[in-house]
Amino acid sequence: MSISVRPLTPVFGAQITNVDLTRPLDDSTFADIENAFETHSVLVFPQQALDDASQIAFSSRFGALETTQGHIANNFTVKQVSVISNLDPDGRLMASNDPRLIYRIGQRNWHSDSSFKKVPAKASLLYARVLPPNSNACAQTQFASLRAAYDALPESRKRELEGRAAIHHYAYSRRNDGIQLTNADEDRRFPPVAQAIIRANPVNGRKALYVGSHASHIAGMPEAEGRALLQELLAFATREEWTYMHHWQVGDLVMYDNRAALHRARPYAITEHARILHRTTVAGDGPTVH
Ligand code: SIN
Repeated sequence: MSISVRPLTPVFGAQITNVDLTRPLDDSTFADIENAFETHSVLVFPQQALDDASQIAFSSRFGALETTQGHIANNFTVKQVSVISNLDPDGRLMASNDPRLIYRIGQRNWHSDSSFKKVPAKASLLYARVLPPNSNACAQTQFASLRAAYDALPESRKRELEGRAAIHHYAYSRRNDGIQLTNADEDRRFPPVAQAIIRANPVNGRKALYVGSHASHIAGMPEAEGRALLQELLAFATREEWTYMHHWQVGDLVMYDNRAALHRARPYAITEHARILHRTTVAGDGPTVH
């Protein structure tokens, strides 16, 4: 039986049904899913019953997995599954001034996972385990199509940006109201890196406007000028007409292409309701600039 693919918006995103991701997939079914991923950038698989092992097994079909970087919100552990949670290890809701929660709130900025690494992530897979009540009204994740944004850029802008690189820096994006949220070890592990601003998909050639909150300035441009241009491009890349809001249900697996889509967590009563997502991240194929 073949998978069903239903587009979620006229621009990008698709819901995939008729597949059970807890079972090993035959090559033909996997090829259909991979093709849908390269085409639609964001895939939603509803009603899956995954544990960490099956999430890792499915995610690994797309390539080697990144291990989580140890940071304050995960007790500095390094694993293949990153637990996105507002509960402390004793199962209690974190307080609003808890540094781990402040770290999580950084995920409310539009970003592409691991763009601050020399080899940025290819894909991420988020699986919903625990959600606040009325999850239709809160705690969503929103996605923006960087391909639609690229396509809509004026030709002169496309020419200006082609071949240029932005400098992405973890310490830059993890600053909140003047408070530095990274520590000395993170600053050492994640120095500033250059990323191509225009990226072409290696399978279908579709180009994407690769920006996001980790992008600090533009190589070869005065810092303030580059930062202002990146802010303008980010606002353009996240225009409502090419975004998709995912309203979570427990059991949803959402897979997104970090090369072609930005995402952000939407605000909710984070100190009042538990929300737990498990994330696996497929590593990229190589640097975006040489
Ligand atoms: C993430 O940015 O990895 C998580 C998004 C979310 O919590 O909705």
